[in-house]
Amino acid sequence: MKIHKSSASLQKALLPFLEDCKSIGFVPTMGALHKGHISLVEQACQENECVVVSIFVNPTQFNNSNDLDKYPRTLEGDVALLKKVSGNIFVFFPNAAELYKENIVSKKYNFEGIENEMEGKHRAGHFDGVGTVLDLLFRTVKPNRAYFGEKDFQQLQIVKKLVEIEKLPVEIIGSPIIRENSGLAMSSRNKRLNKQELEEAALIYKTLSEVKGKFKTSTISELNKMVETEFISNSLLELEYFEIAAVNTLKTASTKNKNTSYRAFIAAFIGGVRLIDNIALN
Ligand code: PAJ
Repeated sequence: MKIHKSSASLQKALLPFLEDCKSIGFVPTMGALHKGHISLVEQACQENECVVVSIFVNPTQFNNSNDLDKYPRTLEGDVALLKKVSGNIFVFFPNAAELYKENIVSKKYNFEGIENEMEGKHRAGHFDGVGTVLDLLFRTVKPNRAYFGEKDFQQLQIVKKLVEIEKLPVEIIGSPIIRENSGLAMSSRNKRLNKQELEEAALIYKTLSEVKGKFKTSTISELNKMVETEFISNSLLELEYFEIAAVNTLKTASTKNKNTSYRAFIAAFIGGVRLIDNIALN
């Protein structure tokens, strides 16, 4: 499996597919791959004639330099995992100068307010960074379809807006969250947790599942209280936010509307590591 470090080398390898009108699938990642990423790659391989997997820890989407420094970088292991997937896979592993040229800064986007909710409130500039790097990657890879996990549900909604704004001819496909046996959503950041923290972090999904179970019969304010209480009684996990939000706008809901689809979202810290998860409620 060849690792392309430059856009020119990747584009040269993709040229025969473009010329024969064969479909290109794309899975953008920041590496430290796990089964969640691999499920996206497998789906992309089933639905396209070739697949590009990018591995790039994007500096402009981190608002915390410690988080950026500590982000796991495991290229060899990543390539070994990708080799097990059957498909025509190209790895794109650029550095920041290759992708951004001399200008490693974010563009400013208006994603119709979605960027100001939840992750946007707590990670200033995060979605400008995500939008900027994906715009650069989409223009380099020119995929027919790109695959994103519902694990980062707000990001998935942002990407759908991005391709509208930038008029990019790519279909955005959202795929289900892959979990550990404990229910914990798989994440590259889980690699930074010790055994006890990994066990305790399962509270995040346990709580989301309880919220889903009680959604029909409880008010949103009762659910908010229930979640706060669960987290206060856990000494390792610190809740950053819990929100129930309408799927389309991601605006915080305080009451339930019959014809609206809702999801519940959690961000929490454990051992200095920030984890996020979400679940469909109705
Ligand atoms: P990263 O966190 O590496 O995730 C890459 C893709 O894998 C995202 O679409 C994410 O939602 C998906 N993913 C992560 N964990 C998953 C899980 N447990 N189940 C299903 N899918 C999962 O998200 C990013 O990178 C970056 O922001 C990026 C889009 C690459 C832009 O830099």
